[in-house]
Amino acid sequence: MLNIRIEKTTCPKAKPTDETALGFGKIFTDHMAIIDWNMEKGWYDARIVPFENFSMHPAATCLHYGSEIFEGLKAYRRADGGIQLFRPDCNARRMMESAERLCLPELPEEDFMQILKAFVEVEAEWTPHSPGTSLYLRPFMYGNDDTLGVHAVHNARFAIIASPVGSYYKEGINPVGIMIEDQDVRAVRGGTGYAKCGGNYAASNRAGERAAQKGYSQVLWLDGVHRKYIEEVGAMNVMFKINGEIVTPELSGSILPGVTRRSCIEVLKSKGYNVSERLLSIDELAEALENGTLEEAWGCGTAAVVSPIGKLAYKDKEYIVSGGKIGEVTQMLYDTLTGIQWSKIEDTFGWIVPVC
Ligand code: PLP
Ligand code: COI
Repeated sequence: MLNIRIEKTTCPKAKPTDETALGFGKIFTDHMAIIDWNMEKGWYDARIVPFENFSMHPAATCLHYGSEIFEGLKAYRRADGGIQLFRPDCNARRMMESAERLCLPELPEEDFMQILKAFVEVEAEWTPHSPGTSLYLRPFMYGNDDTLGVHAVHNARFAIIASPVGSYYKEGINPVGIMIEDQDVRAVRGGTGYAKCGGNYAASNRAGERAAQKGYSQVLWLDGVHRKYIEEVGAMNVMFKINGEIVTPELSGSILPGVTRRSCIEVLKSKGYNVSERLLSIDELAEALENGTLEEAWGCGTAAVVSPIGKLAYKDKEYIVSGGKIGEVTQMLYDTLTGIQWSKIEDTFGWIVPVC
């Protein structure tokens, strides 16, 4: 059990008054949680302290060799004023898996949960009240050695910051346009694709910028070996309804095992849908787009929840999906997940963890 020191700010910031204009990750709360780690001492000095800049050695490992991992989850305000989390245990475990891959120290699940809950309680007032808003929580960890040798880190820091957020896309739950990337690759099996590490996102930016210039919200990645199989979107996993079958790329080691992906699969199966986690080639997808058997496509992730895909571009062709509208299954998943997250419908899965 951690012994968490809490030091409250003496100059709290003004909270946002217009919750319809929060956007994503632009405003930060008054505090941050920190635990430091050293090879000899293990985890030490767990604390929740006023939000401020970090100071770090210019040789810090994370700045040179990308020793950095992160998580993303949300705290939701219930109608009774209380606050709750959605499957935080999944984030705790995924963070340990990311740490193992990047040779960063593993923070035990119970310590992750303890400091996360304590932090959310301290920042309770920052959890917004308006429909569709939440407090986005960003746990992260970085290597903090002050030498230039390349090796597993000897010093690291785990921290959590928080940001009150609205919808991730400016389109909200409206359909987004996605560009299928055929030049850059994001990850390969054996690499870091399944870990949530900053380097994966840095490698994605060039294609993301190209997509943005063409007016698309994100990139849909193909596998790095054959450049043939669908993988995932920039910040979401992806699902399709093809001829009645729900298809999502299998967890091959190069895509992120999303908490929302897993939750969508469990909801779909509980409602009797036929869900296949399998290889899906771009040829099969293009054929389904051409012959009209692609009924729906959506992305799923914590930030965007469930995001309908209305347009898919591949090479020089642009396809309209679901007539550019929100499909029935997409809407059902959005309503079910957000219903559980905000306690508007009963959580029959046992996913909600109340904080206060
Ligand atoms: N894939 C990538 C690359 C992501 O960044 C995210 C977002 O976290 C996801 C998938 C979806 O994961 P989750 O549902 O756990 O948020
Ligand atoms: C999330 O959905 O939580 C993410 O981390 C996506 C992010 C890269 C904005």
